[in-house]
Amino acid sequence: MKSNSLTKPEKSLPFKWYYDQKIFQKEITKIFNDEWLYVCHISSIDKNHYRTLSVNNKNIVLIKNKLNDISVFYNTCSHRGSQIFDQKEGKVKSPIIICPYHQWSYELSSGKLLNTTSLKLKNFDKKKYSLQKVNFYIWKGLVFVNLNSKKKFNLQSTFQYYDKTIEKIDLENFVVGHVWKKNVLCNWKIYWENYSECLHCPNIHPELSDLVPLYQRRLVDIKDHPEWVILKKTNSHSKYHGGLKNGAETWSVDGSSQGQSIEDVQSELESRGQIYISTWPTMFLGIYGDHIRIVRLIPISSEEVELTAEWLFPKSTLSNSIYKMENVIDFGILVMNQDANISEVNQRGIYNLEKNSGVLMPEEYIIRDFHIYVRKKLKE
Ligand code: FES
Ligand SMILES: [Fe+2]
Repeated sequence: MKSNSLTKPEKSLPFKWYYDQKIFQKEITKIFNDEWLYVCHISSIDKNHYRTLSVNNKNIVLIKNKLNDISVFYNTCSHRGSQIFDQKEGKVKSPIIICPYHQWSYELSSGKLLNTTSLKLKNFDKKKYSLQKVNFYIWKGLVFVNLNSKKKFNLQSTFQYYDKTIEKIDLENFVVGHVWKKNVLCNWKIYWENYSECLHCPNIHPELSDLVPLYQRRLVDIKDHPEWVILKKTNSHSKYHGGLKNGAETWSVDGSSQGQSIEDVQSELESRGQIYISTWPTMFLGIYGDHIRIVRLIPISSEEVELTAEWLFPKSTLSNSIYKMENVIDFGILVMNQDANISEVNQRGIYNLEKNSGVLMPEEYIIRDFHIYVRKKLKE
């Protein structure tokens, strides 16, 4: 049986690509302005509320109206271009959006220009001055935007790593129980690379490697080892089979899921422990015994990335008064902080050898795929 691992050393990206301004601007244009970017789960924004999102110098606003419908616009007035919403998020006080500069007013849901404050002008066609809509798509309750207005959402091309198991989950009706944010001082690709391998797991994540015994072998999948078929047959330890350690039910501080579960996928999770889905460049999602965690990555600059993690639960779990969310949240934060710290260490080392690149070892096949993706997008 084939293994996932690389069979020869592969050149990593040049170290310069992790801080060079020209490369970063090219990535913004060719990748971030052309791909489906994850914004948030629909339950993380209340009705009659808005949220803005900045991607480099572009800023968009997502609005949920009183009927729970979503609209997404560029955060720019059609008059002379003023920013309209100046907070990251907030409540919309009326069904009308008013520009803070000269008070042009727009309809909240459609973005249609309702009124200007000027003297009447012949031949002024209000219809031409609506707010500019942003291309968006809601998939299973997850809101994605694309700054390329021509792109159509396509499941196959949006998710580089997809797992059909998610189709069994009623994700639209899950509820975001907690949101955590952190800015990490590293290039966005460094954080993705770190996410894509487990060579670092035993020393960076001792608690996680205890929970997921396979990670003690520095692998993300049992099939990463060339002899995985034999190893599986001849070893009964879960290190060779995948899944969580004996007795553990979910990714949490004590391994317990407190009697809660994502029922439709339990058998799948029992054998695998966790299931991942990812879409470059902004989102990875993990399915665990009793919850889902989504992590969004947005670059702030060439050497800073903003992480936003959302923990999603079935409604019944959150309404269960004895369920303690902290058990899974604290564990997720522990692991993400460990990854954030080591990603910053990685970043600090790359400046010395600007003409060089690193090397990818057998277990780093997902990073190789990621580099192929980045190179291809930059050439487009
Ligand atoms: S810029 Fe918005 S009303 Fe003038
Ligand atoms: Fe990690």
